[in-house]
Formats: sequence, structure tokens, C-alpha cells
Amino acid sequence: MSNPGNPKRFLLCGRPPAPVLLAATARILFADPIAFRAPANLKGKIGGMAGNTTRIPMYACAIADAEIEAAVDVLRSGNLAQGERVRDFEEAWSAKFGVRHAVTCSSGTAALRLALQAVVRPGDEVLIPGLTFIATASAVVEAGAIPVACDVDPETWLIDLEDAAARLSARTRVILPVHLFGNPCDPAATAEFAKTHGLDIIWDAAQAHGAAVQGSDVAGWPLMTCYSFYATKNLYLGEGGMVCTGDDALADRLARMRNHGMDHRGLWVERGSNYRMMELQGAIGAAQLKRFDAMAARRRSNARYLQNALADIPGLHCQAITPGATHAWHQFAVRIEPRNFGTGRDGLAAALSRSGIETAVYYRTGINAQPYYDENFASGELPVTNRLSVELLSLPVHDELSQEHMAQIADAVRNTCDQTTA
Ligand SMILES: Cc1ncc(COP(=O)(O)O)c(C=O)c1O
Repeated sequence: MSNPGNPKRFLLCGRPPAPVLLAATARILFADPIAFRAPANLKGKIGGMAGNTTRIPMYACAIADAEIEAAVDVLRSGNLAQGERVRDFEEAWSAKFGVRHAVTCSSGTAALRLALQAVVRPGDEVLIPGLTFIATASAVVEAGAIPVACDVDPETWLIDLEDAAARLSARTRVILPVHLFGNPCDPAATAEFAKTHGLDIIWDAAQAHGAAVQGSDVAGWPLMTCYSFYATKNLYLGEGGMVCTGDDALADRLARMRNHGMDHRGLWVERGSNYRMMELQGAIGAAQLKRFDAMAARRRSNARYLQNALADIPGLHCQAITPGATHAWHQFAVRIEPRNFGTGRDGLAAALSRSGIETAVYYRTGINAQPYYDENFASGELPVTNRLSVELLSLPVHDELSQEHMAQIADAVRNTCDQTTA
């Protein structure tokens, strides 16, 4: 299992050490486009895990032939900087997910930063969930605002609106809910909350590509939805991000802010920086989007298998899905109650590792307990976040895994419970 001191932590929320990234990038960029095939098994294609062929990995970065060819075309085109391919990707995304504007950028963190900068002023407060990746909070700080961490619901693990209501102040300007692990938040309840308290909503959909509620894709939810295309995400370009919005004026501003706040005359008219996406990412993105439905369907069927196979294990709980939701299954996490399961989350992780199954912990530390947050913004105890940060364990669910892998994972979890309670 990964842990904060372990280089493998990059598997979801951290970054691989530079040599690993370089090696992985070189494998992708310089593979012979004819000889390279998206492998039928997991052999040698897991970022940072090449050569470790016997384990079931948490992530697979399986760039398909069409994506490699699109990337090679870019390399041969003489234009690497943001241009036609990035525009194609944005248009394909808007059309697929039914949103008026899709503005790409360099990362999910940049997407959050741009969206926040479009609506907050220095000193404004932004409500975020305590259980999320650091970027949700760090982007708020970067935008000059104050992150206010709220507790999460004990069943859905999503921001708890009742707790959020208790943390409102005269300076609260935005609520930034996270569709954690791909489970979309309740759009109606959140919109009602935002309307009542005069807030804008920025959705963190870094883990929720293709998630929806009652058929309405999260991409089109007002006011803005932010994605990440980091190497482990459900659609992966290595790095990359996007802000979606239905608002024409906002889309213009986002596009301008990602390019130094420069207008069409080349004049610097507002605050901005270089948050542009490269053509390489745009080309891979447009190509990968064509197989996204198949990727998402495989994740869903893997998750369904685990949900059924693990349903009656004592002390093991799955994430409660928002009513009417299509979950994106970025993570399949289980909550382990040691007293009934027989061992705790870390004991299960160790047992699965011995059986050749990788796992990961998201998140070992709530935002409230992060040293920088605690020193600068401490907003009190978050008991549910604290409990989940010691009880959650993510199991492999990605789209390169088969039903046989799922059966192996489910058997190993059940055996651990049987053996530790025997
Ligand atoms: C919930 C959440 N928000 C934001 C981000 C930031 O995305 P990126 O790593 O592309 O900057 C991530 C990435 O892990 C994430 O999981």
C-alpha cells in the first residue's frame, strides 16, 4: 500500500519522482507507433511500476494506438503550443457532455484557480469539504481567498451542507463541493443552499468525468465545473485540466486569464498567468475521448461486481451513492470498522499487498489536519472527516482490470475478514 513517505504515493494524489515521470513519458512518446500496442494484460505499462507484472495495480496508464498516433502527428506538425488540437478537444468535450464552453488549462489545480479567480476577491471565504485532495484548498489560497473546511456526510462522504451552514460568515462567497471518488453531489440541494446564502458554486470534478445525476452530466452544472486530466484520472493526459461553464462572459474571461490576462489585441487587461494546455495533450484528449464510454462502462461494471461481492462482509461499508447518480468510480473505497471486520484499514491493506493487490489511502489526513491549513485557517474539528481518514481504503477498479481481477480482489478481502475474525 502507498503511504506518504513512499514514492508510489503518486499513484493518485502525489507526483512520481522526476526519473519515473521521465521514463514513463519517454515510454509513451518514443514508443514505435507500429510496434506499440495497448497491452492485453498489464505487463510493463503501469506508470512507475514497469516490470512488476504479478500485482494488480491501482492505476494503469494505457495510452492506445490512436492516441499515440495523434501525439506523434503533433510532434511532426511543428506546433507544440496550444492551438487547433486543444480547440478540437474542447469542442469534442462540450459536444459530448452537453456544456456550452470547455476551457482547457494546464492542470486540475489551474482549473480551480482560474474558476476561483473569476469570482472571488481577496479575503472572501470558500466552503470546501474536509475530505479531499490538497489542491481543492490550495487553489483557494492561491486565488487570494480563505478555505473553510466543512465536515462530510458519513454515508456519501461528500460535503455536509448542514455543517457548511454552520460555517457561513459575512465573507462567504463560494461553495466548492467535490464529487469525491466520482460520486456526484446532490445538485438540487447544493443549488438551494447556494441560492439561500447568495453563493456561487464551483464544482471540483477532478475525479468525476462523466458523472451525472438524473442524466444531467456534472459538466453543465452552474456555475463552473473543474476537471483534472492527471495521469491517474478517468481520462488521462499526464497533466491537464479544464473549466466548463454555460456562461459566455465567464468563458471569455477564463480563456483570457489562462493566457496572462491578455486580450485579442495582445494587451494585458486583467490578472492571469500561463495556464495553457499543450497540443500534445489536446490531441491525446480528443483521441481518448472517443473510447471514453467504453472506459467508463468497464469501471462501472468493475464497481458493480465489487459492490455485490463485498455486500455482506461484516464491518465493511461502501460509499452511499447520491440518489439518481451515475457514479464515475474514480475510486472504489471501502470503510473498514476494525471491531466487526477483524482488522483495520491498514491491516487489510497489508493483507491485500501480500496477495499481490495494490491499494491506496485517500485521504490519510483531512484538510483540517494538514499543517499549513491548521496553522493558517483552522476552522475547528471535523469528526466525520477524521474518522474516514483512518477507515477508508481504495481498491483497484480501473478500466484495464477484468472481472477475474475483481473476483481476486473480492476473495482476498473476504479471506482477510474470515481469517482475522476466526
Ligand atoms: C479532488 C481533486 N481536486 C483537484 C485535483 C488537482 O488536479 P491536478 O493534479 O490535475 O492539478 C485533484 C487531483 O488529484 C483532485 O483529486
